[in-house]
Amino acid sequence: MPSKSHFRWGILGPGSIAKQFARGLSASLEAELRAVAGRSLARSEAFAAEFKIPKTYASADELLADPEIDAVYIATPHPFHLPLVLSACAAKKAVLCEKPLTPNAQGTLQAVAAAKQHGVFLMEALWTRFLPAIVQALAWISDGRIGEPRLLEASFGFRMGWEPESRLLAPELAGGSLLDVGIYPLALAAWVFGTEPTALKAVGHVGLTGVDEQAALVLSYPRGELAVVNSAVRTNTRHVATIYGTEGSVTLREPWWKATEVTLSANGTEETLKFEFRANGYEYEADEVQRSVRAGKLESALVPHATSIALARMLDSAREQLGVKYPFEA
Ligand SMILES: NC(=O)c1ccc[n+]([C@@H]2O[C@H](COP(=O)([O-])OP(=O)(O)OC[C@H]3O[C@@H](n4cnc5c(N)ncnc54)[C@H](OP(=O)(O)O)[C@@H]3O)[C@@H](O)[C@H]2O)c1
Repeated sequence: MPSKSHFRWGILGPGSIAKQFARGLSASLEAELRAVAGRSLARSEAFAAEFKIPKTYASADELLADPEIDAVYIATPHPFHLPLVLSACAAKKAVLCEKPLTPNAQGTLQAVAAAKQHGVFLMEALWTRFLPAIVQALAWISDGRIGEPRLLEASFGFRMGWEPESRLLAPELAGGSLLDVGIYPLALAAWVFGTEPTALKAVGHVGLTGVDEQAALVLSYPRGELAVVNSAVRTNTRHVATIYGTEGSVTLREPWWKATEVTLSANGTEETLKFEFRANGYEYEADEVQRSVRAGKLESALVPHATSIALARMLDSAREQLGVKYPFEA
């Protein structure tokens, strides 16, 4: 159990998103960023110096053996999440693991089983769910302010340069738009309509490296609701999300996945609310982990294991329809 005053974090994978998370943690009075480990001691030391982290370990195993770590944040490329989740669970550390939790549903089921077996907290780092603007949007929807939600549109696409070796395009690193950014609009659809679409149809473009450079998905739900979502890593798109209901709509302004502004349009009027992050938005997912662990929970009520499993199944289905298979998949 974490000490009363501090919740002690270790970071595994000191890359670009880990820097953002470290900045987010600085806005949590309770959090203490205590250790970092990656594959290179020199890179981890540079990261530790930048964020004033007292301990640097030469390997994940050494960090996981530190009894003064309460939780780890896993921020390596997708295929290396699962082995670290398994080790962290065995070491009895609470785990916040970057999205996608693993590259496919088989791995996600393994991760969840390990957390249950060892009785530790595990959450996929779907940080968007905890942002105040998203919380507000979902509250308006569940309070019936737009009537019945019927249709959701959301995009997340950006144009990267032609870097076939990069984690975003390399099949051995589980590249492609679906796993990198498509998971965000799929998750938004799950938060609005639930995790059990009745159908999921996907089309997309598979580029020269064999991963999806862009994809468009349509999902239908039991009462005829629809989600129309798309993702891209080689095309810039707008980053707006709108949920249309029978009596109005809710719009999350660009970029919706880190929204600070949300508009309710209903009954001929518009109401816009703006929110300031305490730091950069990543502090809210850290708060959720800390709160949940202190309450003795093994999963988050807002991003439970079932959501991660459902999202992984949807991504599997979309990749199968596009014909994208990773080399490490049998
Ligand atoms: N939540 C978000 O907003 C968000 C945004 C971007 C990315 N992500 C997720 O975060 C994860 C990391 O993305 P990133 O953009 O931060 O990647 P990145 O910049 O490449 O960082 C990944 C880090 O993992 C470490 N690592 C450990 N084992 C590795 C291995 N076998 N191969 C390569 N690197 C390894 C590397 O540090 P060493 O070389 O020192 O070991 C590297 O710095 C991805 O799963 C991605 O989906 C989330």
